[in-house]
Amino acid sequence: MGKNTLLYEGKAKRLFKTDDSNILRVEYLDQATALNGIRKDTVKGKAELNNEITVLIFEHLKKKGLQNHLIKIVSKHEQLVEALDIIPLEVVIRNVSAGSFAKRLEIPEGRPLAFPILEFYYKDDPLDDPFINDDHVKILEIATNQEIEFIKQKAHQINLILIDLFETIGIRLIDFKIEFGRRGDGTILLADEITPDTCRLWDKQTNEHLDKDVYRRNLGDIVPVYQEVLERLEQALH
Ligand code: C5P
Repeated sequence: MGKNTLLYEGKAKRLFKTDDSNILRVEYLDQATALNGIRKDTVKGKAELNNEITVLIFEHLKKKGLQNHLIKIVSKHEQLVEALDIIPLEVVIRNVSAGSFAKRLEIPEGRPLAFPILEFYYKDDPLDDPFINDDHVKILEIATNQEIEFIKQKAHQINLILIDLFETIGIRLIDFKIEFGRRGDGTILLADEITPDTCRLWDKQTNEHLDKDVYRRNLGDIVPVYQEVLERLEQALH
C-alpha cells in the first residue's frame, strides 16, 4: 500500500495512509447520515465545519492535559492524526435525558440526570451498534478490566472539560459519543472526532438544538447551526 491509500471510509470521514506509518490523514466529507447510514445526504460545507470544530476541541483538551490522536490541521477539510488501533466501542456520556436514552426508559427529554452516566455501544454496523455492558466488553475481548476503567475515567474527565467549555459559550452539553484507540505499546488515547455530529448541544437560553438532531429530526439546515457552534468556539478559544 502506498501513500494516499484509502484505509477506511466511514459515514462522514475517509482515512488515508501517509508517508509515515505512524500518521494518518483524515478527510472530512460533506455528508450527513442518520439511521446507521440508511438516510444519507450531501451537505455542502459540513466537512470544513466539523474538521475545524474537532481541531479546536481536541487542541483544547490537549491544553487541559487530555492526550488525543490529533497532530494538526492540514487543510480546511483535512487533519493529520496518530495512527491508532481503534477500539470498537462507542462511549456515550449523558448529562441530560435525550435521544435513545429518553426513548428506551421513557424519561422525558431535557430532564437533568443526577450524575453523568456512561454507556458502551459495540461498534458493529451489521449488528446495528448494540448497547452492551462491561461484561460484554470483556467477553468480546474488546478491552480488559483495567482498560475499561481507564476509558471510563478519561470519558468522565473529558465530560467535565467539555461541560465547562460549552458553558462559556452559552451551550448545555446534553450528551456525546467518543472513541478511543491503542498505540502499539498499548497506551489508550482519545481518537475520532468531537463535533455537533457526535454531541447534543442545546442553546442555554432557547433550548434550540445546535447539533445533528436538526438533521435527524428534519428541523432545518445544519450548516448555519454548525457554523454558529464553530464561531462561538473560536471566540472562546482564540
Ligand atoms: O442516539 P443516542 O441518544 O444514543 O446518542 C447519544 C449521543 O451519542 C448523541 O450525542 C449522539 O450524537 C451520539 N452518537 C454518535 N454516533 C452514534 C450514535 C450516537 O455520535 N453512532
